[in-house]
Amino acid sequence: TSDLPVYTLEEVTKHRSLDSGVWVTYKGGVYDITEFVAIHPGGDKILLAAGGALEPYWALYAVHQQDHVLEILSEYKIGVL
Ligand code: HEM
Repeated sequence: TSDLPVYTLEEVTKHRSLDSGVWVTYKGGVYDITEFVAIHPGGDKILLAAGGALEPYWALYAVHQQDHVLEILSEYKIGVL
């Protein structure tokens, strides 16, 4: 079980800019990736997913289907849906 807080999708959608924070969801997890945006190897494209789900974008950019990418993502987990 997880001790992380539970967030609604509505709360996640409020975080889609560097000012308000950049949150994304992935497989039921909620991630605050604000600090990662500037170091993302794919640049500003990452902001397309801001406030919503990563899955549609990671389906398009298969470079993310690697364990080391999931390890990076896991560092930014703040909650669950
Ligand atoms: C590349 C992480 C979201 C587009 C990468 C790489 C990492 C990464 C680690 C390099 C992978 C490698 O070469 O082994 C992440 C994380 C994300 C995220 C942790 C979310 C928290 C996105 C989104 C998009 C995107 C939403 C597109 C809308 C790209 C592209 C590359 C890339 C195009 C290839 C860059 C290149 O090699 O020229 N990402 N990414 N990423 N990412 Fe992301």
